Amino acid sequence: MIKGIFPGSFDPFTLGHLDIARRSARVVDKLYVAVLINASKRSAFTMDERINMIRAALDGESNIEVISFDGLLVDCAKQYGASVIIRSLRDSSDYLSERQMETINKRLCPDLEIVYLNSAPELMHISSSAVRELASYGCSIEGFVPEINRKIIIERLCKNG
Ligand code: PNS
Repeated sequence: MIKGIFPGSFDPFTLGHLDIARRSARVVDKLYVAVLINASKRSAFTMDERINMIRAALDGESNIEVISFDGLLVDCAKQYGASVIIRSLRDSSDYLSERQMETINKRLCPDLEIVYLNSAPELMHISSSAVRELASYGCSIEGFVPEINRKIIIERLCKNG
């Protein structure tokens, strides 16, 4: 049984993330979507808010479980028995930062394998930071985030209420 982890800060979870989670769940037997802390980013949503939004978006996906972990990704993988880490690539700048993270994670845990999925071309412009910015100005985020999460994101981030 191959268990994979799709880690991220998911602040918030986007349609790009949703696509990667669904595609990853077809190549592993069990997928953990893991909300972790990215020390270089200050998050807009609490851990509970992020988890609830991801669970709502992935409702009905039988081999996906949403978890959170306060610590290193390699320790999260060990705790959940996962042998594969899944990350997505939108463009070459993602590639450079992912290579650096992969090198660190491989040094910490040589047995872990990191697998990359290219984002779908029609979703590659989507990022959590773009969603936060659009929502903060009250712009529509239709086509950026799962429909079920749109209202809560706008309510939380729109400066004009
Ligand atoms: O969605 P992101 O912000 O690109 O995800 C990055 C994340 C959360 C996967 C990464 O910051 C991470 O693995 N954090 C946990 C701490 C860790 O393991 N750091 C060492 C790898 S550099």
